[in-house]
Amino acid sequence: MKPTRSLHRCSNCGATATRWAGKCPSCGEWNTLVVDPAKKAAPEARAVALRDVDPHGCRPFPTGVTELDRVLSGGLSAGSVTLLFGEPGVGKSTLVTQILLHVATCGPVALLASAEELSSQVRKRTERLGVVPDSLLVAAVSTVEEIEEAVSRSVPTLTVVDSVQAIFDPDASGSRGSLTQVRACTERLARLAHDSGSAVFVVGHVTKDGDIAGPRTLEHMVDTVVSLEGDRHHSLRFLRALKHRFGPTGDVGILEMRESGLSSVDDPGALLLEDRKVDVPGSTVVPVLDGRRPLLVEIQALTSAAPGYAASSNPSRAGGRRSAQGIDARRLECLLAVLDRRAGVHLGDSDVFVSVTGGVRLSEPAADLALALALYSSAADVAVPEGIAAFGEVGLAGEVRQVPGSARRLAECARLGFTSAVVPESTPKDTYGIDLLRVSTLKEAVELVGAVSLVERRTPEFATTICSW
Ligand code: TYD
Ligand code: MG
Repeated sequence: MKPTRSLHRCSNCGATATRWAGKCPSCGEWNTLVVDPAKKAAPEARAVALRDVDPHGCRPFPTGVTELDRVLSGGLSAGSVTLLFGEPGVGKSTLVTQILLHVATCGPVALLASAEELSSQVRKRTERLGVVPDSLLVAAVSTVEEIEEAVSRSVPTLTVVDSVQAIFDPDASGSRGSLTQVRACTERLARLAHDSGSAVFVVGHVTKDGDIAGPRTLEHMVDTVVSLEGDRHHSLRFLRALKHRFGPTGDVGILEMRESGLSSVDDPGALLLEDRKVDVPGSTVVPVLDGRRPLLVEIQALTSAAPGYAASSNPSRAGGRRSAQGIDARRLECLLAVLDRRAGVHLGDSDVFVSVTGGVRLSEPAADLALALALYSSAADVAVPEGIAAFGEVGLAGEVRQVPGSARRLAECARLGFTSAVVPESTPKDTYGIDLLRVSTLKEAVELVGAVSLVERRTPEFATTICSW
């Protein structure tokens, strides 16, 4: 008889391990791993010659949402588990409904295991998005066992579970939506995908504050993790694969939420700049590289040095208030310090508000220079002239550093009608007709923008400023 190994389960987070350890490898708690009497680890798999394995065994099938198929290098693979996560209201249920509609319309059985909405609600949304085919099935479920049952009865090619936080595994401890429950359910769904051959697509919510019971804790159990991001007050949505066992990650899918569901955007860059008001102090444009796609994004800053306002609103705080939307608040603090110490732009006591338009979130260091210039532009009350973009990383010494992909960024600037760009000194020559305003420090960039703005305004101070610079 083949020996079977005991499975150990962490009583704190629900993670499993085939060996006992003093410290749970997942949550780091001590002495929480105990033998799970109900479960035995699977016996060793039989080895086969690699040459006998069908290389096309995991060929993906398209989801019909072109941008998602691009991010997933073709679509979903049979027997795989994909986790789609995003904040509530971002459009996860809409996206999965479109996928279910496409797959079922092509013929195969597609099953929605809905734990959040009634079947009648599901039907209403689905009818809004297309003609409901016969092979699209819905099961109102509340436990993972009911999903297993529905899959074994209907043998779907695609099974969508909406959402993992709303289902329950009676064999596991904890309350619905808890870390232990979400882990246990995901593990069972992964086993279900593997055993049934159905591609399982699991929806999960994350909150703004973090990812409790979210993607990071489930990443190792699933084949693919896709995030759907965007501000629900704006229409743009971004799809990213954070993990993908069957292809590369890093590409981004851009969608727009419309009355008729999520659809591809032909020109997201132009869309983001559509309502931009030029000649307003505090506004800059940065070409960011999201995955391989360049995107022109507007950063807005508003600095207010109302004396005593910040102090009176929060007497315990020495400096002004800071508010950042779409930008990491720590990065903003850091750039304010660099502006203060290296470029002579003092905003310590001012209230500072920054936001990225269109609900985009910037994480690239390449956005540093444009953000710093937006802050300067607002503080000095000089508008960055129309047609100038900026990119570059800003170091703590106030130096402006080279960033990857400058050619692609400049090409996108040129495509959207920009004529100049403030760029790091060492930017390669390939300019796409863009006039390069090279700077090696943030101080130089600040002075340059100040001077160029004065030229635009044709003020008499220009001569003095340009001379001192
Ligand atoms: P939903 O997919 O339910 O979000 P999630 O499952 O992530 O919580 O949809 C969120 C919003 O999208 C909701 O406010 C309504 C809107 N919406 C549209 O704008 N167009 C549509 O076609 C659909 C179905 C929804
Ligand atoms: Mg939903």
